[in-house]
Amino acid sequence: MAIPQSFIEELKSRVEIEDLIGGYVKLRRQGSNLTGLCPFHSEKSPSFTVFVGSQSYYCFGCHAGGDAINFVRAVEHLDYVDAVKFLADRVGMTVPQEEGARENAAQRADILELNKTAARWFHEQLRKTPQAVRYLSGRGLSEKTILHFGLGYAPEGWDNLLRHLEQKGYTKPDVKRAGLAAVNQGGRYYDYFRGRIMFPIIDVRGNVVGFGGRVLDDSKPKYLNSPDTPVFKKSRSLFSLCNAKGTREGQLILAEGYLDVISLYQAGFAQAVATLGTALTSEQARLMNRYAKEVVIAYDMDEAGRRATQRASELLTAAGLKVRVLRLDGAKDPDEYLRTHGPERLRAQLSRTEGYVEYRLSQAAVGLDLQDAAGKVSYLKEAAAILSQLDSPVERDVYAGRVAAQLGVEKDNLLTEANRLRKSDRKKAQQQDIVQQQRLLRSGVGRVDPDRARHLRASRAEEGILCLLYDHPDYYDELSKELSPDDFVTPFHRRVLVSMANAIEMGERPDLSGFREFSIEEIGVIQGILLRRERFSGTREELRELMETLQQERRRGAALQHGMDDEELRRYLQSMGQRK
Ligand code: GTP
Ligand code: MN
Repeated sequence: MAIPQSFIEELKSRVEIEDLIGGYVKLRRQGSNLTGLCPFHSEKSPSFTVFVGSQSYYCFGCHAGGDAINFVRAVEHLDYVDAVKFLADRVGMTVPQEEGARENAAQRADILELNKTAARWFHEQLRKTPQAVRYLSGRGLSEKTILHFGLGYAPEGWDNLLRHLEQKGYTKPDVKRAGLAAVNQGGRYYDYFRGRIMFPIIDVRGNVVGFGGRVLDDSKPKYLNSPDTPVFKKSRSLFSLCNAKGTREGQLILAEGYLDVISLYQAGFAQAVATLGTALTSEQARLMNRYAKEVVIAYDMDEAGRRATQRASELLTAAGLKVRVLRLDGAKDPDEYLRTHGPERLRAQLSRTEGYVEYRLSQAAVGLDLQDAAGKVSYLKEAAAILSQLDSPVERDVYAGRVAAQLGVEKDNLLTEANRLRKSDRKKAQQQDIVQQQRLLRSGVGRVDPDRARHLRASRAEEGILCLLYDHPDYYDELSKELSPDDFVTPFHRRVLVSMANAIEMGERPDLSGFREFSIEEIGVIQGILLRRERFSGTREELRELMETLQQERRRGAALQHGMDDEELRRYLQSMGQRK
């Protein structure tokens, strides 16, 4: 809570929300605003809107919404303070530090220091273990490569590393916090990695954030990775990104395994990275987008690799990257390809990589006899489906031309079929979205504000009051004289009013970034309410009407609670009106 509001305002004025969100979502201009597919729920037609004027966003499907800070909280899964830091980094500002943050930073620094000490020790152990060195040279790695990647060896035994680190002044819980020790049921600490070749995972700043460890034989599990720690999140790290980030004009090669990446590096392809034993995540795709324009996927050539290629291309394309696919004829992975064919062949292959569309088209032909009429028809159907997924009409035209020429058929027929599929897909998608939106509408707002539906008229009046107050803090005096937050029927609106009142009483303008005590989901609902501001003229007269409506509804609610029937109620309300 210690970050001053003035800092937040300065920060928000420097972040352009359309650029920020544009890094995650493909946005199209729509009038003065921008729209795209919502990153917070899956949909096929865009209901996600970025409001340039108010520097905010809202999804009409799932009610995600808020300002730049809320967007970062939601999309990067950060808490409020870390989201502010994330944005400050982006625009080159430094967040004034608070006590807790300093402690966290100190703890992270300790873990990084411990990791570095461990990496050094693993490397020394490798030197003392001939069979481990033999394994690596057997895999074709040179002395220089081993040194460059800082490879090491975790010896067999219970607690060799633990004892070494204790000598250096670390405690057992320190080692466990860094993910290098575990505790058994008897409460005894032991080394997490034992009898494994060690691959340090180094981030772009050169910190050792975690480790991967491989057995020397065929035992299982083949690899073990550090658990997630305060400095290491598998889903956000990429192996060897530190080597790859500055190489070859905007290209990265994405491989599956540690050893693929190391072999590629040794063969002169420093732009290679790999995920850490898990499928590619959208966070990793966005991370790559920071360092490259294009990603060449070089996954294993088996069925699992093909499926992973498909999934990865979708994520990478969504993150704004150009995707190509490397075909490794006669080898199962890049490591094997390099060993059998050598770097020159790989380089040539790399320059011939297919774009993703060509890759999918050639995949579609696998197992079909294109000389045969039935084979041709199957292929053309599949090709039309692939073409129908291309957004650009130019692209559809170009690839349709290519396929048609290849098979000796009319391009126009193929294009017509692709466009027909596209139309019917879009219709289906829109219908699905509507069904989903209705479901989300019930669950989303319903969860945050369950009372709204029960007191609809009162709720609407309350929303109006909040809208007016947001734009006209000077109405607060009048409002606070006649209305207290307790008069609000729905507890959620009451909390919003209290929060806005606090800001106004402290001399600040109400602002989305001021709702810090609210969850991401709740801020979305608040943003949804504030979007209705345009329906109000904003006069004091209107405010009075809304307050009157609210009072009426309250009386009605009270009467209902006392078990009056409709006729009694009408009379009661009448009498209330006369008394005024
Ligand atoms: P080699 O088989 O030695 O060539 O290593 P590789 O890196 O090529 O391994 P493979 O293609 O089998 O797997 C690719 C990546 O998946 C590895 O680098 C690991 O990150 C991960 N991986 C493989 N096996 C396991 C496992 O048993 N557990 C975990 N957590 N990850 C694994
Ligand atoms: Mn391999």
